[in-house]
Amino acid sequence: MKQAWWKESVVYQVYPRSFQDSNGDGIGDLAGVTSRLDYLKELGVDVIWLSPFYRSPGGDNGYDISDYRDIEPCFGTMEDFDRLLAEAHARGLRIVIDLVVNHSSEEHPWFIESRSSRDNPKRDYYIWRDGKAGGPPNNWGSNFSGSAWQYDEATGQYYLHTFGTFQPDLNWDNPVLREEIFDMMRWWCDKGIDGFRMDVISMISKAPEMPDGELRPGSDYGSFAPYVVNGPNVHRYLQEMHEKVLGRYDLLTVGECSGLTVDEACQYANEEGTELTMAFQFEHMDLDGGESFKWNTRKMDLVEMKALLTKWQKGLDGRAWNSLYWCNHDQPRIVSRLGDDSSFALREKSAKAIALTIHMMQGTPYVYEGEELGMTNAPFETLEDFRDVESINAYRELVGSGRFTPEEMLGFLRYKSRDNSRTPMQWDSSENAGFTTGKPWIMVNPNYKEINAAEQLARPDSVFHFYQELIRLRHEHKLIVYGSYELLLPEDRQIFAYTRSLGEQSLLCVVNLSGEAAECEIPAQFAGAQTLIKVGEPGINGTAAKLQPWDAFVLAIL
Ligand code: GLC
Ligand code: CA
Repeated sequence: MKQAWWKESVVYQVYPRSFQDSNGDGIGDLAGVTSRLDYLKELGVDVIWLSPFYRSPGGDNGYDISDYRDIEPCFGTMEDFDRLLAEAHARGLRIVIDLVVNHSSEEHPWFIESRSSRDNPKRDYYIWRDGKAGGPPNNWGSNFSGSAWQYDEATGQYYLHTFGTFQPDLNWDNPVLREEIFDMMRWWCDKGIDGFRMDVISMISKAPEMPDGELRPGSDYGSFAPYVVNGPNVHRYLQEMHEKVLGRYDLLTVGECSGLTVDEACQYANEEGTELTMAFQFEHMDLDGGESFKWNTRKMDLVEMKALLTKWQKGLDGRAWNSLYWCNHDQPRIVSRLGDDSSFALREKSAKAIALTIHMMQGTPYVYEGEELGMTNAPFETLEDFRDVESINAYRELVGSGRFTPEEMLGFLRYKSRDNSRTPMQWDSSENAGFTTGKPWIMVNPNYKEINAAEQLARPDSVFHFYQELIRLRHEHKLIVYGSYELLLPEDRQIFAYTRSLGEQSLLCVVNLSGEAAECEIPAQFAGAQTLIKVGEPGINGTAAKLQPWDAFVLAIL
């Protein structure tokens, strides 16, 4: 397998709005990120992925961009960005920026022109269709509830928005639009950024015929997925992007690819490097979904999860590159979702065990702000506590239609809302967790007095120091980066165990991902091998292992 810096890196995702406020307006900003670079250096990560900070009305917290080459004032200025980039580079940290080009904001000048008349030269930058039988062109539902089509008075047609009504989809079939985007990307690359995380990039190419979709379970709307996700020209457009932009620089490029399959990933992130360097798949995040999308309080099934992650580990080995993650700004906190946040000890142990599970795998690990502290879901009480457009729209639609009672839906939101990951970073035990001196834009999790960076930096056995060690080990051992993977004990309902091997070296990773004690047998070749890292005090005796709840260990032959 080819070696590359982005394969050997660990990425840390910063959601600027929630990371560090520098001026007391209650909103995190770029100067705030700069002020925390030494913390990230201490953690040991190599790359910072910044969620959007561009000009934006903020309907989806910046994933609705009205100027791709400017900074939203609440995040600072272009000078603040340039300083952040320079300060990061001075510390050997790379910066990857979010590229949101499946859609723009409705306030982008392109859309303002596009909607102004049917014969405007920019009309075709977006996707316009005539209505059908007095309604929208087809039955597609948007990802943020309601129809995916919005009627526009001025010209009497509908525009497509796969997300919010304020996020019109760009028309990638238009070569002029593609050139505009490529030009903007080169502009950022010439500034010296180190890569792009590409928002819903698997959705940029739409099948032109746009028929009705199959009804989504429990919904009046049909699914656009078969006509939009991994659409007919997506690979052609990414190859063109590679030829005109990406291939001219040395970048980490990761596609957010909903609906990704192993075969598709081997195309998007192929080893020849004609498209992206890696992709995010979502299958493990969907394991606790079901009818009515993600709105439930179901738990993931461990046996299914092992089979699924194993499919990705083996399916991409030597053909493409995995992105390893549990958390991002769209997911609830993993320790509340998969672990046990009911006490200090269980929270810390389960956070470490869950981290270890993916940090010993093949791929590039992503750590989301606060994950390295074991930050938890937040105790949101009423709908007014939520800020996220997806959560609020879903509540209105599902409670409005009588499908769920308000209490049921609030329970689902507390468990799964994206706002769980967006509460401010918990820096210390001072007011507002050291995030702001003003009024935070979203509630601070009241557990910040117990869970915060200052406390964990000072305590050697903290979750922070465990992540630091995981990152250090990856930097030290090519085996952890490149080794090939084999699952052990596929049917075990508590233990996630696998091996990695590279040349003469190998390791065994065993994690008790349950709240009950467990036992297992260790393959003979690992009897007496050195312990690389562990969680708790697992009892290892020759080929027999006994694990307390959330105990874990890695044995290595180096
Ligand atoms: C991606 C982003 C998410 C955003 C959506 C629309 O899924 O991660 O935060 O709401 O795209 O841009
Ligand atoms: Ca601020």
